[in-house]
Amino acid sequence: MASNFTGHFTRKRRDGKADRSNRPGLIRCVFLLALTASTGRAFAQSEPIAVLSADISGFGQPLPAVAANPGDRAVFQAGQRLFATPLSIPVLGPLFNNRTCVACHFQPTMGGSGEFISEIHTRADTTGLPVHTFAVDNMLRAGPQSQAGATIFSHGLAAVPLGCEISDPDCTLSPCQEAEARLKNFSPDLPICDPTSASFAAGRNCSAQRQSTNLFGLGLVEATDDKTLTDLAANQPSAIRGTPRLLDEFGRRRVARFGWKDDGATLRAFADLATANELGLTTPDLPQENTTCADGLTQFGVVLDTGEEPEDRPDASGRAMVDRIVDFMRELAPPPQLKLNDTARRGEQLFGQIGCAGCHVPTLETAANPSQFIPPTTGGVPISTTLNHALAHQTFHPFSDFLLHNMGSLGDGISSGTAGPDMMRTAPLWGVRSKVRLLHDGRADNLREAITLHDGQGRDSAQQFNALSPADQAALISYLNTL
Ligand code: HEC
Ligand code: HEC
Repeated sequence: MASNFTGHFTRKRRDGKADRSNRPGLIRCVFLLALTASTGRAFAQSEPIAVLSADISGFGQPLPAVAANPGDRAVFQAGQRLFATPLSIPVLGPLFNNRTCVACHFQPTMGGSGEFISEIHTRADTTGLPVHTFAVDNMLRAGPQSQAGATIFSHGLAAVPLGCEISDPDCTLSPCQEAEARLKNFSPDLPICDPTSASFAAGRNCSAQRQSTNLFGLGLVEATDDKTLTDLAANQPSAIRGTPRLLDEFGRRRVARFGWKDDGATLRAFADLATANELGLTTPDLPQENTTCADGLTQFGVVLDTGEEPEDRPDASGRAMVDRIVDFMRELAPPPQLKLNDTARRGEQLFGQIGCAGCHVPTLETAANPSQFIPPTTGGVPISTTLNHALAHQTFHPFSDFLLHNMGSLGDGISSGTAGPDMMRTAPLWGVRSKVRLLHDGRADNLREAITLHDGQGRDSAQQFNALSPADQAALISYLNTL
């Protein structure tokens, strides 16, 4: 079974060839655990578990005020459960990347990032959406699944793995996947986008993979006033000045802050995108299915897509599944920072001195009354007064300005609204010690590499890092390992 997972770990090198070499055992095991948890199936563990260098206890807890309030805590738990509940057809898909949120947000625990880099954006994509790696017909077409001679899924439903990934060169595409590949002009041989390259200037197609991000503390980010972010930009030195991305969401002009390219200003809007793009679930806000490839089709006696939209609707309490998942994310506490020893304290100083803190802004404060701009659920329920209180006037430490920066060759080559090919949101560094791969496509294996790959507006700072003594470089890294 393990060999079927190689598709998940295929990454492209900068020359565009697939790289299947030596993936760390830890990563593989963690992903298998996540998938196993979501499908309830056991697997034989065959690889040694590596040891992470940093203390990663205490991630994934609710905000303390939420934990202390039985009503808000129950809302958190209900959302947490749905975050990890696998969807099945007909609501899942027809095109999807995985079956649960947690399948990609599990590192180091539920709500975290993921080593699993499945989302692929292509420059040639006319829809602006990522390539969907799986499809329901792909999942089902294998027919009955058997294990040790016994039939375990008579219809092939809920097969593990879900089927082959569209991005795997060995995958024989199903009809839905073929439709997707045609639409997105996707080929596994596309080179990685480099917006500073000659081939990019010549307009050639390319693709950018996507590492998932941590969701810890995002309620505080959502509760931050637009003006706080635009003021940050106004006060940055021009050499590193960020660009706020403005979006219209739920009838308001807002400053975006979520996703690698600032694709959302509110958790409700981003969760809509995630359910639509990752799970293929239609919601009251996005009731349109991405494709009609499976409409009215039945395979192995199973209806692939009933065509009844939206698939997710608010219940009597005014919450749809997507709303409950938003509740969970909104109430997640930031990762706990570790105590600084003398070396890390030296690193903290350097972080300010060599300009990292100019973009990776250590401290922000939430608005006085976030309920003024946090949207209600799809059924019209506003956030509770106790949660509003818990989110108001909070000082927090995201290590980001949430603005877009020109990152030169580190850009992903993809345009998303006003976020141009070389523009990326400053990656928040809270919780970075728990990540196993870094940067938008996971191209960096460690912190040092991630820093030295900074280009464009980040290049000066990276060069200052390179010029530090080995001891000072180590001090800076050890500081990052406390975040
Ligand atoms: C197949 C993998 C995958 C699945 C499944 C998935 N995500 Fe994600 N998630 C990603 C990736 C990749 C990104 C970064 C996307 C980007 O910005 O381009 C991301 C980013 C996010 C962000 C933005 C966080 C930030 O740093 O601003 C939120 C919020 C989010 N996901 C929520 C969800 C929710 C809710 C679900 C389930 C409905 C979900 N995700 C399912 C891969 C996944
Ligand atoms: C001009 C703004 C800017 C400056 C200055 C800057 N960064 Fe970044 N940083 C970014 C952006 C934007 C990203 C995301 C880039 C990407 O993935 O394409 C990033 C990503 C990172 C990451 C990877 C995080 C992750 O989750 O993958 C680390 C680590 C990091 N920066 C550390 C530093 C350090 C240390 C310094 C100082 C030497 C620094 N940065 C200076 C903007 C900046």
